[in-house]
Amino acid sequence: MVSSSLLASNIGQLVTNDPARDDLLGAIDDAAIAVSDGHVVWVGPAADVPGEWRELPEFDCEGAAVVPGFVDAHTHLAFAGDRADEFGRRLRGESYEEIMAAGGGIQSTVAATRAASARELLTTTMPRVERMLRAGTTTVEIKSGYGLDRDTELRLLGAIAAVDDSLEIDAVPTFLGAHTVPIEFAGDGDGYVTHLVDEILPACAPYARFCDVFCDEGVFTVEQARSVLYAGRQHGLEPRLHANQLAASGGAKLAAELGAVSADHLDHIDDEDIDVLRAAGVVAILLPGVSFSLQLPQARGNDLWDAGVTVALATDCNPGTSNIETMPFVIALACLEMGLSPERAIWSATRGGALALGLEDRGQLTPGALGDFVVLAHPSYVHLAYRPDAPPVRAVIKRGELVAG
Ligand code: NIG
Ligand code: FE
Repeated sequence: MVSSSLLASNIGQLVTNDPARDDLLGAIDDAAIAVSDGHVVWVGPAADVPGEWRELPEFDCEGAAVVPGFVDAHTHLAFAGDRADEFGRRLRGESYEEIMAAGGGIQSTVAATRAASARELLTTTMPRVERMLRAGTTTVEIKSGYGLDRDTELRLLGAIAAVDDSLEIDAVPTFLGAHTVPIEFAGDGDGYVTHLVDEILPACAPYARFCDVFCDEGVFTVEQARSVLYAGRQHGLEPRLHANQLAASGGAKLAAELGAVSADHLDHIDDEDIDVLRAAGVVAILLPGVSFSLQLPQARGNDLWDAGVTVALATDCNPGTSNIETMPFVIALACLEMGLSPERAIWSATRGGALALGLEDRGQLTPGALGDFVVLAHPSYVHLAYRPDAPPVRAVIKRGELVAG
């Protein structure tokens, strides 16, 4: 793991997300930031850099805006094959649920992934993550879930560990054995849940940090999700879940009941769901790329924000519902399609993502935090939405080391 020291100077606009400052983003104009041994040691106006940090190797940002490294807290990017054919069918009128019911959807990626060797999985997964890193993602959560049997789930978690070891990005592994009921258990969701809890979860738990369930209409019920997440917790995995994506399926309330770290998607929530999420301190992870790709209405991002729920944004990068890899594009969608302000979108893509993963040491640029940040190819963060097709990133710094740009 790299860990280095530098002084980033000549920053036109610095987003710190410092909660001690008045504005949401804690923005400072004409700023500098000093990183020593991978951690932020000083942040402030360029004119005030203390003498002890002036000798650090300098990185001249040439007036560009700097934001904390993006934290993409929900992805399914470890998989084989692609589903361009299904995407075409959707554009010709079939729905995601119809394709799923006809044996396509997640099942077709499961078939391709089961057939892929560990090496083949790495060959498809690594370039995706490299592109994410070059677009400013410095921490990424990656779910298993296209195996649905012990060996393939283990192979996926192995690929996630290899990403974490071999690239500068931090990869956080989530076990999603309950992504759907595999064909060998067709019609017997309870049977699969028993098998999952008894056989797959105990083998996989040592390689994951979180346990996730796709709790939704036609997938796993609230009762099934509850048993998987309880079992996950017994194996040391914190719960999070896919909730209320396809229907008002009770997932958000289950997330609150369990004190899950996050409830994700939330396309079908009412005011009561919003209240219980806020009261339980569950982070809402919103995925505007999914609604964009499926051409559906966006989730109630501003209502969640207004109610005081902590909101994160993520790509949900997966072959079916959001084949989107970069956070700058998600930020543009969050502003232009979901209606978030640029400030809310930037905060949710950085600090919100960090809180959704329980990682207090990132997503903000304050002394003690990781020295993870992105030098934008723009004079202000607003340009990420204002010029959504312009190359967004000039350089990426991870733990004080230049890793892209
Ligand atoms: O987050 N909702 C469940 N899982 C993915 C879709 C996976 C797929 O279609 O392959 C999602 O949208
Ligand atoms: Fe997902």
